[in-house]
Amino acid sequence: ELSPIEKAKFVSAKRASDFVETGMRVGLGTGSTAAWMVRCLGERVKNDGLKIKGVPTSSRTAALAQSLGIEVVTLDEAKWLDLTIDGADEYDADLSLIKGGGGAHLQEKVVATASDRMIVIADAAKKVDTLGAFPLPLEVIPFGWQTTKTLVEETLVGMDVLGRTTALRMNGDAPFVTDEGNHILDLHLERIGNPRQLSLVMNQIPGVVENGLFIDICDVVVVGHGDGRVEVTD
Ligand code: A5P
Repeated sequence: ELSPIEKAKFVSAKRASDFVETGMRVGLGTGSTAAWMVRCLGERVKNDGLKIKGVPTSSRTAALAQSLGIEVVTLDEAKWLDLTIDGADEYDADLSLIKGGGGAHLQEKVVATASDRMIVIADAAKKVDTLGAFPLPLEVIPFGWQTTKTLVEETLVGMDVLGRTTALRMNGDAPFVTDEGNHILDLHLERIGNPRQLSLVMNQIPGVVENGLFIDICDVVVVGHGDGRVEVTD
């Protein structure tokens, strides 16, 4: 049997996968909740004749989708998507998100932005009043990353945040490397007073490719609870 947290992830993923219909081009998110969604879609492809084209947001999700018999295409082959379903690390009442805990927020943001709708799947613990307790990921190019880190820290001095420490994400003894060959800086901000402003300012820094704030991208959050209840917030 599933633990309450896995059950919450599963029921939200299952409900969201019901929005997918034959003929759709679907963005496939990354992370443990999104993996449940991909498995739900894989079952329907196998057992119910569901026919979709899936655009994965990471090499991990691509491998999972392919192993389940879901037709995988690139974003450029699909050109535009009907729907993207993805997880999140935090969401607030405006449906602004922090993503990238799994290190895939760059591709996730490109894919979600190229979709008519983005549905986020999450357990209820990810709902927050103010974003920022979860460290905000910044994807940075490897070239000059230490200089970029310093510049990010200096820029944070002028921003409406509580904490200002940053850390290079590691994978054992080596820097974590994203699917795009970049590194991740995790910003420990505790409280993000103005997510829209922070997102714009961070993306202006040379060396920063993309931050993990998703503003005005998510349309619906499907929230799962450990007892199997599901709420749809839009
Ligand atoms: C991946 O980069 C992230 O944006 C994930 O979507 C996020 O970390 C949620 O993952 P879980 O569903 O595993 O919590």
